Amino acid sequence: MNEQVLLYEGKAKRIYATDNPEIVRVVYKNSATAFNGEKKAEIAGKGRLNNEITSLLFKKLMDAGISTHFVEKTSELEQLVKRVSIIPLEVVVRNIIAGSLSKRMGLEEGTLLAKPIVEFYYKRDDLGDPIVNEDHISALSLASTEELQQIKQLALRVNDELVALFNECNVRLVDFKLEFGKLEDGTILLADEISPDTCRLWDKDTNAKFDKDVFRRDLGNLTDGYEEILKRLGGLLCSK
Ligand code: C5P
Repeated sequence: MNEQVLLYEGKAKRIYATDNPEIVRVVYKNSATAFNGEKKAEIAGKGRLNNEITSLLFKKLMDAGISTHFVEKTSELEQLVKRVSIIPLEVVVRNIIAGSLSKRMGLEEGTLLAKPIVEFYYKRDDLGDPIVNEDHISALSLASTEELQQIKQLALRVNDELVALFNECNVRLVDFKLEFGKLEDGTILLADEISPDTCRLWDKDTNAKFDKDVFRRDLGNLTDGYEEILKRLGGLLCSK
């Protein structure tokens, strides 16, 4: 009965209620956006690919003992997830210099960092998601110091798992963005998605880009790279 109640619509997904108050239904869209929504397109197949890739990666992370909101993939475009309140932070982990870090610091893309960098951005489209530090986050009560410590540790654990997984697929995990949510009892879970929309993924031999930079920078057909990631991940995970 609640199946059609739209709870939230974002740039890439819609969230609907279900008859279970603890579970929501995520429907992936084919919309591609960049530069805070300034560049937009509909790209056939993108929703299906992101749903499949996110589902594979979340299952893999849960196998590694990381708590996530993921319950199950129910169709090409849909998955069921635990209902959480999203912490208003975009948590970016970087292994290799690229994107906004390269711009902000005047550094060339492609340089390996001496250790991973974790960055926080305040999730506010109308402000263009400004970068914030741990003091902003605790003083403005976006998350408590303890929660932030937990989030940072979880983000680095996710990084370790994903770097190793993509390495086996001959792919470099350059950087990625995570979001976290809270259950009513305060438990923090990894939420949202992990897909080529939210990661930079480069072929280890050729540095070919298999991620949303292809759309941001007009480098060719976006879904070819996403298909390649799914093929490599699928091949790897099925063979285990
Ligand atoms: O643009 P920037 O270099 O800061 O992005 C770092 C990483 O976070 C990239 O993998 C990008 O795709 C991801 N990201 C995202 N959503 C945002 C901002 C960044 O998925 N709103």
